[in-house]
Amino acid sequence: MALKIIITGASSGIGQALAKEYAKQGAVIGLLARRKEELLALQKILPCKSLIFPVDVTDLAQCRWAAEEFMALHGAPDIVIANAGISSGTLTENFSDLETFKKIIATNLIGVTHTFYPFIQVFKNRGSGQFVGISSVAGIRGLPGAGAYSSSKAALTNYLESLRVELAAHNIDVTTIAPGYIKSPMTDTNDFTMPFLMSADRAAQSMIKAIQKKKKFLIVPWQMSIVGKIMHVLPTFVWDWLAKKAPRKKKIPV
Ligand SMILES: NC(=O)c1ccc[n+]([C@@H]2O[C@H](COP(=O)([O-])OP(=O)(O)OC[C@H]3O[C@@H](n4cnc5c(N)ncnc54)[C@H](OP(=O)(O)O)[C@@H]3O)[C@@H](O)[C@H]2O)c1
Repeated sequence: MALKIIITGASSGIGQALAKEYAKQGAVIGLLARRKEELLALQKILPCKSLIFPVDVTDLAQCRWAAEEFMALHGAPDIVIANAGISSGTLTENFSDLETFKKIIATNLIGVTHTFYPFIQVFKNRGSGQFVGISSVAGIRGLPGAGAYSSSKAALTNYLESLRVELAAHNIDVTTIAPGYIKSPMTDTNDFTMPFLMSADRAAQSMIKAIQKKKKFLIVPWQMSIVGKIMHVLPTFVWDWLAKKAPRKKKIPV
């Protein structure tokens, strides 16, 4: 039986690479993102059955609609990947950045709950299913100049952990993936050297292996998992000293 998969943020970068990899396995894929043209272009080149849903994950009604349409045609999916996300540099002292804070939290955290919500009861009834959330190494410690993004991903990582424990008794798996630097339109705007930068295709392959193994937590690339473990245990004063020298994400319209 073909795997059935929902992927948000499928119109570019990591989401698109995941869709292409799963397509090679003959999966049936529900592709979600706001830009319909990009989704249509992807659908044309995928060698598998796919459905496109031009939806905004900040809107619960749109996410429910996409879920119901997919399930009406193909039944409950096996895997739901909440990958949609946005990023921008932010500073709390800038009035206009407060709106950006709201958008980033609404997309990167609340959008994931909207993506998963329509499937939870369905997975519970069936007694199986897997949720995957794409968080970030940027959520391990607070990054200066990226308060909104860093806190959205820290919150997302903890949310996914809560969900994993809540759903374990129902035989529903939750996999958290925290990428380091992956080449995509999101990182193409960075004007600093990105250590261990990995292609989206390679990243998608590693992610899919971890999803297949139902891993609870993965950092890609592997070099970043060492960095991530060190970041996690660094004393506050060492982190503060290192982080003040860290390159800062530019302000990007979101
Ligand atoms: N690239 C990295 O180095 C890196 C590192 C750590 C974590 N991540 C995370 O990986 C995920 C994918 O990022 P990426 O690098 O592939 O960036 P990307 O190329 O900019 O892709 C982001 C995707 O999210 C979609 N999206 C954004 N807002 C949305 C919304 N409100 N509703 C529906 N879809 C929305 C975009 O599609 P539309 O614009 O068409 O809606 C796009 O398909 C993000 O969650 C990001 O935070 C990336």
